[in-house]
Amino acid sequence: MISYFDIFISSFFVLSLTQNGIESIKYEPNWKSIDSRPLPTWYDEGKIGIFLHWGVFSVPSYSNEWFWYRWQGPQPFPSVVNFMKNNYKPDFTYADFAKDFTVQEGIFKPDHWADIFNASGARYIVQVTKHHEGFTSWPSKYSFNWNAMDVGPKRDLVAEVSMAVRKYPNLRFGIYHSLYEWFHPLYLQDKNNSFKTQDFVFGKTLPELYELVNTYKPDVVWSDGCAGPDAYWNSTHFLAWLYNESPVKDTVVTNDRWGYGIPCHHGGFLTCHDHYNPGTLMTRKFENAMKLDWKSWGYRRDTTLKEVISIEKLLQDIAETISCNGNILINVGPTKDGAIAPIYEERLRQMGSWLQVNGEAVYKSRPWVFQNDTLTSGVWYTQRKDLKAVYAFLFNWPSGDLTLGAPQAMSETAVTLLGYPAPFTFTSLGSKGIVVHVPDIPFSKMPCSWMWVLKFTNLVN
Ligand SMILES: *[C@@H]1O[C@H](CO)[C@@H](O)[C@H](O)[C@H]1NC(C)=O
Ligand SMILES: *[C@@H]1O[C@H](CO)[C@@H](O)[C@H](O)[C@H]1NC(C)=O
Ligand SMILES: *[C@@H]1O[C@H](CO)[C@@H](O)[C@H](O)[C@H]1NC(C)=O
Ligand SMILES: *[C@@H]1O[C@H](CO)[C@@H](O)[C@H](O)[C@H]1NC(C)=O
Repeated sequence: MISYFDIFISSFFVLSLTQNGIESIKYEPNWKSIDSRPLPTWYDEGKIGIFLHWGVFSVPSYSNEWFWYRWQGPQPFPSVVNFMKNNYKPDFTYADFAKDFTVQEGIFKPDHWADIFNASGARYIVQVTKHHEGFTSWPSKYSFNWNAMDVGPKRDLVAEVSMAVRKYPNLRFGIYHSLYEWFHPLYLQDKNNSFKTQDFVFGKTLPELYELVNTYKPDVVWSDGCAGPDAYWNSTHFLAWLYNESPVKDTVVTNDRWGYGIPCHHGGFLTCHDHYNPGTLMTRKFENAMKLDWKSWGYRRDTTLKEVISIEKLLQDIAETISCNGNILINVGPTKDGAIAPIYEERLRQMGSWLQVNGEAVYKSRPWVFQNDTLTSGVWYTQRKDLKAVYAFLFNWPSGDLTLGAPQAMSETAVTLLGYPAPFTFTSLGSKGIVVHVPDIPFSKMPCSWMWVLKFTNLVN
């Protein structure tokens, strides 16, 4: 018997019986069904992740992680071509870099990495396990002689990083994986055949993805390099398996880079393009993937200090992103021997020290009615429905009176500064906003540096 309800439901997903006899949702291999899956709550609550770009590109550590393509792709970069001409013998190949991906004992300390990540206040890690160069950081059966066990490190970098990260209850582990590979002959052949053949997908991409998920059980599958139609990649079939049957079906989140035209439209959270920070409320969950070195995701030896994001700008990016319903994924590129440079360690630990004081306004927050203030620039908002509170992130320290257009006060309203014991007084402007009277606070009593958070309770709106 089929009821109207069944007909309605089956257009999105199929209900099936689990062992417990509880009806669970079965997702179908089409975008409508895949898009209907709610994101596991840990993701939205966590807000902040760390992205790790680490691979053979970390060996030349010059230009950026697209080094190989910029050297030998269809439109070579003169800077990279000259770098090779000036520093290497003419017969040197990109594959020759792999043996110098040393990841040395005594320098690579995954427990030290995990300590930095935990101290940063991030809630998840996304490790690049295969970038467009095709080198796999785990001993893949499908990447013969071009993986971290056969050449270079001679170890399983995904196992080592994931195990270290998982010692911290606050941290979840995820993987980044590139669907395509710039120079893989089977990919080039399929592309040449207008993607009517799928030799690369069935021989390489999908087997790798299943192997990664089954072996390392990541809570994030961050797909990239979707240079081909989603039907070519069999994306919805893989995702239906990921959501229905995989060992992480209840906890995993994924992004939107699953084929031509799919980013910003379908999948799990939306990444749209790199550094996606829309500045206005997004109804659908998104992630702003950005980096500490603004010129490169992979480590560069020639990074200068002014190319490294300041802690002020990093915290501002966090505030803007979460105010608009985003998570932020902050990239750091480790070195070829396995170190995290002190400047990046400093940024991450600074972020953590700030979150120690202000995390209440970040984790588990939701966008408010207003994303930023209507009168004063550099003021962004979140709310905690569970605490009945609204938070204003102040990019500039307000001396004296701070006039805000968005919050509407009533007599029960209270205004405090997170980390500071005494409440602030204020004058209500009714529907036109509020004037917060900020006292003179001695430097030694300031709760934090770089950005400050006001907490409002019992507002009208
Ligand atoms: C992890 O970081 C938190 C701060 O976010 C800290 O309180 C905790 O002690 C850290 N855990 C370990 C094991 O260092
Ligand atoms: C692509 O096709 C062209 C002919 O249409 C052929 O010359 C070329 O070798 C092919 N390339 C690959 C990688 O199959
Ligand atoms: C790929 O898609 C086809 C349908 O086009 C499906 O039958 C098959 O199971 C899928 N394969 C994988 C490995 O997902
Ligand atoms: C609030 O943010 C929007 C979008 O970024 C911007 O256009 C607007 O100027 C901001 N408002 C103020 C008062 O700065």
